[in-house]
Amino acid sequence: MTDVDGQVVTRQSVFAMMQAYKHTSLLRAAVELRLFDAFADGPAGAADVALRLDIDKRGAKILLDALCAIRLLGGDGDTYWLAPGAQEQLVSTEPGFVGDMAHVFASDWEWDALKRFADAVRKGGTVMDEHAETPEYAYWEDFAAYVPVVAEPTAQVMADAITPWAQGQAQLRVLDVACGHGVYGFSMAQRFTQAHVTSMDWENVLEVTATHARRMGVAERTSTIAGDMFEVPMGGPYDLALVTNVLHHFSEQRATELLTRVAASVRPGGRIGLVGFTTGDALPADDPAPYLFSVLMLAWTFEGEVHSEECYRRMLDASGFDTATSHPVPGLPYRVLLAERRQE
Ligand SMILES: C[S@@+](CC[C@H](N)C(=O)[O-])C[C@H]1O[C@@H](n2cnc3c(N)ncnc32)[C@H](O)[C@@H]1O
Repeated sequence: MTDVDGQVVTRQSVFAMMQAYKHTSLLRAAVELRLFDAFADGPAGAADVALRLDIDKRGAKILLDALCAIRLLGGDGDTYWLAPGAQEQLVSTEPGFVGDMAHVFASDWEWDALKRFADAVRKGGTVMDEHAETPEYAYWEDFAAYVPVVAEPTAQVMADAITPWAQGQAQLRVLDVACGHGVYGFSMAQRFTQAHVTSMDWENVLEVTATHARRMGVAERTSTIAGDMFEVPMGGPYDLALVTNVLHHFSEQRATELLTRVAASVRPGGRIGLVGFTTGDALPADDPAPYLFSVLMLAWTFEGEVHSEECYRRMLDASGFDTATSHPVPGLPYRVLLAERRQE
């Protein structure tokens, strides 16, 4: 049997998968060294790049040739230049720069957990001493620092979806649970001048969150709650709660527990906004992102995995929310779900 595309597993394709981490290492090193910046003004030779970046000449030459091999640079062996598109994505002064996402996607934390993936599979959950559920885990500081470049488009989809309801609200008290960078809540504050956002996360993460509140010009309409979202008093009542990209860290039962706590702090008739990957929209081969993300959840949490949209609807219903609407995020493998706090 061949797979859906008629693709056959070959020796070459297996070997390429075994070595894919080398591409990751090259890109990560080049971003760390800000190597792409050296070409922002045009082509350069290895000796010149080595001098500008204060790195070894032999090291520079080997890295530059390897970056040509994976087509992030062009080169003729003497002179090197940025491949088409590399300027926009990988030169750190460009507005669309995404290189620092390597601190997240290609981080030691994720890699250390994935190195022991077979053990996680045997156990059915993380085998790491430090993992995504560790209180005040330092990984979440980097996540909060670097992810806004990816989160901002989805936050706009969320803000667009909530606008017909939110623009009619005299006040908009927003709780952003496990806020990380806080961009989902702060986008609400930017869009709706009557909004006040309470950002909740671990104390160490909230220090990074505050930098984004200032950057986005909404700091004066924000406050924070630090601590464990399963334990800390949530305050309220709120008109809108946001729970984005975190429920997949938990089983359906534990995620429902969290949503039930959130529901208790949202006024009847208020709204909840969820964001997450969802499975079940297509077969894994046609929609790989959520299934590959579940791998990280297995390696790095006790019971987490990507939930289906149907599962999200069950969790919302069980915790006191209904009439959920679903909103795709163009070009990204996420889904925004909005639901209403039931009148008791
Ligand atoms: C994947 S990030 C999501 C951040 C943001 N909401 C987003 O959509 O990008 C998960 C966040 O949940 C926070 N978190 C995880 N467990 C938590 C807990 N028990 N109490 C408070 N925050 C927690 C982490 O610190 C991290 O900032």
